[in-house]
Amino acid sequence: MTVKILQRILLLFFFTISTPLQAVEKPVDIHLSFQPDLKNGKRVYEICATCHLPEGWGNSDGGYPQIAGQHQSVLVKQLLDIRSGFRENPAMYPFVQERTMGGYQDMADVVAYIARLPMHPRHAKGPWSDLSKEFQQGKKLYNDKCARCHGALGEGKNIGAIPRLYGQHYAYLLRQLELVHKGIRKVNPAMKAIVDSVPDDKLQKIANYVSWLAVPEDKKAPSLNWRNPDFK
Ligand code: HEC
Ligand code: HEC
Repeated sequence: MTVKILQRILLLFFFTISTPLQAVEKPVDIHLSFQPDLKNGKRVYEICATCHLPEGWGNSDGGYPQIAGQHQSVLVKQLLDIRSGFRENPAMYPFVQERTMGGYQDMADVVAYIARLPMHPRHAKGPWSDLSKEFQQGKKLYNDKCARCHGALGEGKNIGAIPRLYGQHYAYLLRQLELVHKGIRKVNPAMKAIVDSVPDDKLQKIANYVSWLAVPEDKKAPSLNWRNPDFK
């Protein structure tokens, strides 16, 4: 009798600790498998804020991307890729290991936190505004080649982990496209093929157009002076 009870307790224990991991069918769906705890997300984000700053807005020279407002699946995928070394990022690498930022629950929490941050109200745009020939060329290329995945407005998709592109700084966009082109940043083969089909000087025009895509008002912080109140 007591052995049976003991067995049950053991089994129950086994299921309790193993269920969350089993529920993650694809690693990129981690955010769907856990109930996010935003308070813990804020705690984990303290590690990230050292570089990404409390607002997650990145900087105009493209050294740091805007991560605020990004789709959760995209954030998870990048964290896993950087954690495993698949996406090369030596500066960030030590901070996204399990021993530093925690396990899947912590990852789900921090991405839920970041996805809810309001975006930069005035991110860095490329050099050509909408009356120019270069802007129009970039627009045509984007609509022909990129919009079918990233969306006509640059909104991306949470399902499929397709990055939201609007709001990203011009220099970062251009650098990522160049890294994809050189094969240093590994992305899905369909996107790589498309990027490779675009001559280098045209990449600038596409990045320019993308950088001018409007950030919806309800995703934007009210002003440049907005500061993340959680980090006061
Ligand atoms: C030591 C500085 C540093 C720390 C700490 C850091 N990051 Fe990063 N992170 C970077 C840099 C630099 C890049 C851009 C790398 C590149 O240009 O490819 C980046 C890129 C990213 C990206 C990819 C964005 C994109 O759209 O391409 C995500 C997501 C991200 N960081 C999230 C985090 C999170 C979450 C944490 C905390 C757990 C964190 N980072 C901690 C420096 C850091
Ligand atoms: C077949 C679908 C597809 C097409 C077509 C495509 N992309 Fe992508 N793109 C993706 C996916 C998926 C990712 C995420 C890659 C990863 O997981 O790191 C991505 C990543 C990116 C990134 C990096 C974003 C970030 O936050 O790090 C940029 C910039 C980008 N794409 C721009 C473009 C442009 C410009 C074009 C057209 C020339 C294009 N893409 C065409 C699917 C696509």
